[in-house]
Amino acid sequence: MVWKGYRRGVEFMKIDLTGPLLNALDKASSEFKDAKERGDYKKAKRKAFDCARILRELAKHVPSQRRAYLEKAEKWERIAKQVEESGSRKEVEKSGVDEEDFTSYIQNLIARSEVRWSDIGGLDEVKRLMMETIVIAGLQKPESIKPWKGILLFGPPGTGKTMLAAASAGSLNATFFNVKADKVLSKYFGESSKLVSALYSVARDRAPSIVFIDEFDALSLSRSGDVSEASRRMLSTLLSELDGFQDKKSDRLILTLAATNTPWDLDQAVLSRFPRRIYVPLPDVRACEEIIKIHTKGLDTSKLSIHELAEMCVERLYSGRDISNLCQQAMWNMIRDVNKDLHKLAELPYDELKNKSLKTRPLTMEDFYLAFEKVKSPLTKKDVERYEKWNEEFGG
Ligand SMILES: Nc1ncnc2c1ncn2[C@@H]1O[C@H](COP(=O)(O)OP(=O)(O)OP(=O)(O)O)[C@@H](O)[C@H]1O
Ligand SMILES: [Mg+2]
Repeated sequence: MVWKGYRRGVEFMKIDLTGPLLNALDKASSEFKDAKERGDYKKAKRKAFDCARILRELAKHVPSQRRAYLEKAEKWERIAKQVEESGSRKEVEKSGVDEEDFTSYIQNLIARSEVRWSDIGGLDEVKRLMMETIVIAGLQKPESIKPWKGILLFGPPGTGKTMLAAASAGSLNATFFNVKADKVLSKYFGESSKLVSALYSVARDRAPSIVFIDEFDALSLSRSGDVSEASRRMLSTLLSELDGFQDKKSDRLILTLAATNTPWDLDQAVLSRFPRRIYVPLPDVRACEEIIKIHTKGLDTSKLSIHELAEMCVERLYSGRDISNLCQQAMWNMIRDVNKDLHKLAELPYDELKNKSLKTRPLTMEDFYLAFEKVKSPLTKKDVERYEKWNEEFGG
């Protein structure tokens, strides 16, 4: 980030040192490793102190990541002291920073996907596109037919993007890596690009794999154009993984799905790696009907006009998530209505509570009318138009 400012009327320019500092950190930490491996503990100690010093410098330059950098600096200082005290190879290795830490973090990103295509209401066209893509990727095919490596899912919040990614993984029986870009960045800041390489290496070993990058916008150029050096590096590593130059076992399926609510923030470099861009829109009337049915499963809906409810949802610009909240609210209205003393049950000991059962009755339109007042869509018509316009121009 380079920013301008004014001091006593004189324009001055502050230059971002994050990049060079991160490079210096990479260098010092790999020199530390080399020295440690060779048993040159004197040099290893010096390099560990260098790392700590550079991290303290970084903490000054990137206020938003100050704490993370300071913690890392302290870690390096501890390592340096251990090298000094023991000089023993074994103990130093135990305190080493990266690989072990990465491996366990990556293991934690592997999620079991329980979502099935039938759990997703509406989105027929989107589901068809995703299934096609996945089937093509999995089938034997002539060499000239290249499956998509990256698919971008974009659309308003709560429309089922995460569900679609999870259902794809479920139907393929693929290893599903659920990566939240901003979480990786805040945990591994300066090292997040190394984490991405490590992640793809595990994904290759465990193919077929689906790497799902949620909140992709955290990596992209934001409105202000203000993006940290660390995000830039993480993104460029990710893009080179997508280019596939590092893909040694190229016949194995590794599909990268990325989801965003703000596709207009993505720059050309990113878009060119995601030629398949799938719009996940707000549900139409028929989709709303299906989503209402999914979220009232097991309850008596015979007294409802689901069609009327669906029209109300469309009018209010509800997403699938809003509809799920609506159904929950309506269900609670029904439950409170027929279990007047529900709160008193809270005082019962658990054993007695276990033997009581909730009374229910069919859901009514009234339960829903009350619920509509509680659920507000965060969107305006203008927001929706913006998605549609972007879709016309860049989607496909
Ligand atoms: N099409 C749908 N069918 C059924 N349920 C849905 C649908 N879309 C959303 N939901 C409900 O809303 C919840 C949120 O959906 P999901 O996490 O997939 O949204 P998202 O598009 O990833 O949102 P965000 O952009 O905020 O990450 C789901 O857990 C589900 O309960
Ligand atoms: Mg999501």
